[in-house]
Amino acid sequence: MPYDECYVKSVIRTVADWPEKGVMFRDITPIFKDPKALRMVTDDFIQRYIGTDITHIASIDARGFLISSIMAYHLNLPLVLVRKKGKLPGKTIQADYALEYGTATVEMQIDAVGPGDRVLIFDDLIATGGTILAASTLIKELGASVYEAAALIDLPDLEGSTRIQDAGIPVHTLLAYE
Ligand code: PRP
Ligand code: ADE
Repeated sequence: MPYDECYVKSVIRTVADWPEKGVMFRDITPIFKDPKALRMVTDDFIQRYIGTDITHIASIDARGFLISSIMAYHLNLPLVLVRKKGKLPGKTIQADYALEYGTATVEMQIDAVGPGDRVLIFDDLIATGGTILAASTLIKELGASVYEAAALIDLPDLEGSTRIQDAGIPVHTLLAYE
C-alpha cells in the first residue's frame, strides 16, 4: 500500500490538554481501527529496512509495540522489549529519563541483545527524545550498537530527534507535527 502522508495525518487524532494542560496529544489509536492506514505505515517502515544488516528490533512500551511487532514478523527479525519499570521478569538493567509530561524508568532484560548486534529502536513518537536515548543507553550497556531510531511521529519543536541525532544515532520518522 503506497504511503500517503495526508491520509495518515487525517486518521491521527489530536486531543488538546491531555494528559495535562498544554499538551497536544497525538493519538495514534485510530490507525489501528483503520487497516488501510495501518498497512500504509507498516509497509513503509518494512520497505525501508528490508535487506539491511539489522539484527534486532527494540520496541518501546507500550505504543511502540504495536507497529514494531508487525515489522518484526515481516522482516523475520527478533523483537526485544524496552519496558516501563517493573514489567520484565529476570535480570534487567534500567535507565531513568524525563518525558514531555513527568519522568519514567525503562528496563531491558540482560540477555535481550549483546555484542555484535545492530539494533533498530522503534517507538510511535519522538517528543523530548528521552525515551529513545534511555533505550539506546541500555542497548549500548549490553554491548550492542544502535542502527537507527525510527518512529511514526516527530514533534520537532521539542527537539528530541535533534538530540538523538546529536548523540550519533540516525533518526527516521514518517510525519511531523509542529
Ligand atoms: C510516549 C510515547 C513515547 C514517548 C515519547 O510514551 O509513546 O514512548 O512518550 O516521549 P519522549 O520522546 O519525550 O521520551 P508514554 O510514556 O506516554 O507511554 P505509552 O506508550 O505507554 O502510552
Ligand atoms: N508522548 C509524549 N508527548 C506526546 C504527545 N504530544 N502526543 C502523544 N504522545 C506523546
